Amino acid sequence: MTVSKVNDVIYTPYYDTIAQEYKKSKELPKGLNVDVHTYFNLLGNLAGKSILDLGCGEGFYTRKFKHKGAAIVVGVDISPKMIELARQEEGKEPLGIEYIVGDVMELGKIGSFDFVVASYLLNHAQTKEELLKMCQTIHANLRPGGRFVAINDNVQQSPDSYPICEKYGYTKRISKPFQEGATITLTFSVNGSNFQLYDYYLSKATYEWAFRTAGFKEIRWHKPIVSPEGVREFGEEFWQDFLEYAPMVGIECLK
Ligand SMILES: C[S@@+](CC[C@H](N)C(=O)[O-])C[C@H]1O[C@@H](n2cnc3c(N)ncnc32)[C@H](O)[C@@H]1O
Repeated sequence: MTVSKVNDVIYTPYYDTIAQEYKKSKELPKGLNVDVHTYFNLLGNLAGKSILDLGCGEGFYTRKFKHKGAAIVVGVDISPKMIELARQEEGKEPLGIEYIVGDVMELGKIGSFDFVVASYLLNHAQTKEELLKMCQTIHANLRPGGRFVAINDNVQQSPDSYPICEKYGYTKRISKPFQEGATITLTFSVNGSNFQLYDYYLSKATYEWAFRTAGFKEIRWHKPIVSPEGVREFGEEFWQDFLEYAPMVGIECLK
C-alpha cells in the first residue's frame, strides 16, 4: 500500500486518527440535506447494479448503496482504521459488502462495474499526476457505458466566499498562493468536538484534463441541491448562500 505524503501530511495515519470524528461530520445539516441528496439524485436507480466505492471511508454511503438495492458493492479505502470501522458495521448488520484496504492510485482493475463512485476522494489528489492516476483507476473499473459519479469539494468556489461555510458548521481556508496543489483546510465542529480535514485545490481545467486523458467521453458538473426535508427543517433562506457559492459539487463522467 502506498502512503501519500506531501507537505509533511501523511494521509493514511491522519484519517486513521480522525476516523471516529469523521463519522460525526455526517450529522451536519449539509451532510444529510445536501451531500446525500445531491449524490443520490445523480446516481438514480441502483437496483441490481454493481458499484465500486472508492475512498469509501467507514462505509456511510457504501451501506446506503446496498440499502438502495445494489447487487454488488465493493468499498476501497487507504485507511485501515476506516475499513475496520466499515467491517465492524458489516459485522453488526451483514449486507454482503466487500471492503478492501488499498490506494486508489495503485489499485488497478479489480472488476467491471456499472458505477464507480467517490465521495470527497478526488480532492485528496495533490497534483495533476495523482488525479490522473485516480481517474485511470476509475475508468479501468467501469464497464463500457458505465458511469462515474462523485461529490467533491467545488474547485470553482472562490476563496472569497469560504466564510459562508461557517453558517453550515465548518470553516474552510486555503494556503497562499492560490495555485494548483494549495492546501484547503476544513475544520468541523460537531457536538462540541473539532477536527480538521485537508483537501487540495486543483483547477476545473485540471480535472477535465484528467478525466479526458483517462478516457472519459463526457463530463458533467452539477450544482448542489437541498433535500425537501432540509428546506422544511431550516427554511429556504438558510440554504441560499450554500446554493449560491456552492462549497461542494457533483461530478458525472461517462465511459
Ligand atoms: C473525506 S473522506 C470520505 C469518506 C467517504 N467517502 C464518505 O463520504 O463518508 C475521504 C476518504 O478518502 C480516503 N482516501 C484518501 N486518499 C485515498 C487514496 N489515495 N486511496 C484510497 N482512499 C483514499 C481517506 O482515507 C478517507 O477515508
